Amino acid sequence: MEKVAVNYEKMYYGFPVILVSFYDETGLPNVTPITSSYTLKDMIMLGFSSKGYAVNQLKKVKDFVVNIPDRSLLDAIEYCGSHSGYEVSKFENVDLTHAKGHMVNAPVIQECSIAIECTLTDVVEHEQFKGITNVLAQIKGRYVATEALHEDGSLAAAELDQVVCFGDGRSKSFRYLQ
Ligand SMILES: Cc1cc2nc3c(=O)[nH]c(=O)nc-3n(C[C@H](O)[C@H](O)[C@H](O)COP(=O)(O)O)c2cc1C
Repeated sequence: MEKVAVNYEKMYYGFPVILVSFYDETGLPNVTPITSSYTLKDMIMLGFSSKGYAVNQLKKVKDFVVNIPDRSLLDAIEYCGSHSGYEVSKFENVDLTHAKGHMVNAPVIQECSIAIECTLTDVVEHEQFKGITNVLAQIKGRYVATEALHEDGSLAAAELDQVVCFGDGRSKSFRYLQ
């Protein structure tokens, strides 16, 4: 394939949108969508812009939930991604229901088919990558909607309809797995 050099500020080559939910330091629930994440075994890494409300609260409260939304939640994703918890309590303005997690002190979003309960272990910030804060965390529990499980308990991937994000720093687009 012939290729040309591109000079993007950033590039997303297909990352699932996740909703990171938490109780802030005053005990109020809040939520932020991100795409920068990966996981290996019981480790999960999330990437945030350092100035956001969510990441600055996670540094303090430690516990959070990674919820996997499907395309029916696009309006909520867009709202939560264009407003900051510094200004609004986002759960009050979107059709998302929350309930306390099982293993951590953080809210699980009922409308999402997967919930991964986590506790922050490390904050990674590097002089060379100013403005970016990485949150390293331990996975304490994973919960999957029964509709998204085979009879033997394995993950029924075909039942998931998560939102996958592509972008070049100028625009974002979404694709769906179904
Ligand atoms: C689909 C989508 C993906 C996003 N991915 C990220 C991301 O990976 N990291 C990040 O810091 N912000 C990301 N954002 C932007 C934040 O969601 C946005 O800045 C939000 O308002 C921050 O809210 P907060 O200040 O309450 O944390 C994304 C937004 C959308 C809609």
